[in-house]
Amino acid sequence: MFDRYNRKIDYLRVSVTDRCNLRCRYCMPENGIQLIRHEDILSYEEIHEVVETAVRMGFRKVRITGGEPLVRKGITHLVAMISSIAGIEDLAMTTNGILLDKFAGLLARAGLHRVNVSLDTLDPGRYREITRLGNLGDALKGINAARDAGLNPVKINCVIRESLNEPDARAVEAFGREQGLQVRFIRQMDLKTGIFYRVVGGEGGNCPSCNRLRLTADGKIKPCLFNDMEWSVREFGAEEAIRLAVLNKPRCGTTSRTGAFSRIGG
Ligand code: 5AD
Ligand code: SF4
Repeated sequence: MFDRYNRKIDYLRVSVTDRCNLRCRYCMPENGIQLIRHEDILSYEEIHEVVETAVRMGFRKVRITGGEPLVRKGITHLVAMISSIAGIEDLAMTTNGILLDKFAGLLARAGLHRVNVSLDTLDPGRYREITRLGNLGDALKGINAARDAGLNPVKINCVIRESLNEPDARAVEAFGREQGLQVRFIRQMDLKTGIFYRVVGGEGGNCPSCNRLRLTADGKIKPCLFNDMEWSVREFGAEEAIRLAVLNKPRCGTTSRTGAFSRIGG
């Protein structure tokens, strides 16, 4: 489907949970967030229907996000359900990697193509400081497991504060070079300010070529991260919600009052 600005919208990011096993400072408050009520979370059958509908409407790329997608029970089953939809050319997941050591093989067998793993530093103390709960070693084990399982290309998401010259960013860049992993640098953003940045080494944050819609864990289709418009698939049905989101996708992001990375998965 094309939107009003002639952008071809063919990429759906699917948040499967707002829960996370970490509390990254730029994403979640220390005590977590007000969680979505259980009955408001889409079932795997409902998510499958939305993705199937999107693919029928021309979507070709799907990314599973969270929160942390690997904390949702039965996630490999959802991956298998989605990977069996004919027409998906790229099926990826964004994860913090903490549980990847356990899940990488299962995900690959379920039909996941590849993963992006969040890694903001290579210093164990800094990793704990940034994520509040995480062990750097677990994330690194996860990255290795993903590569061994063939979830390639494994890409690294590195959130930076200001610049690529920060010590953490430079260390992650060197790690990527040594390991042959592509690193994408994402400058820390605040949805409420309207100040957002292009992803260095990736495609996000560039409005003129934005090709994505987002599905939240509670079933809202959002045309833009930096905008509060959304349409519920339970209220409108998947096809109409997707159609409305594409037709109303803003030319460029502005601000979001209600949005939260923890709910939308970046
Ligand atoms: N600014 C920029 N990116 C963020 N992410 C989460 N919170 C923020 C934020 N405030 C992104 C990170 C992480 C992914 C899951 O979401 O890139 O890797
Ligand atoms: Fe969890 Fe990712 Fe948010 Fe960190 S950025 S708290 S890993 S959802």
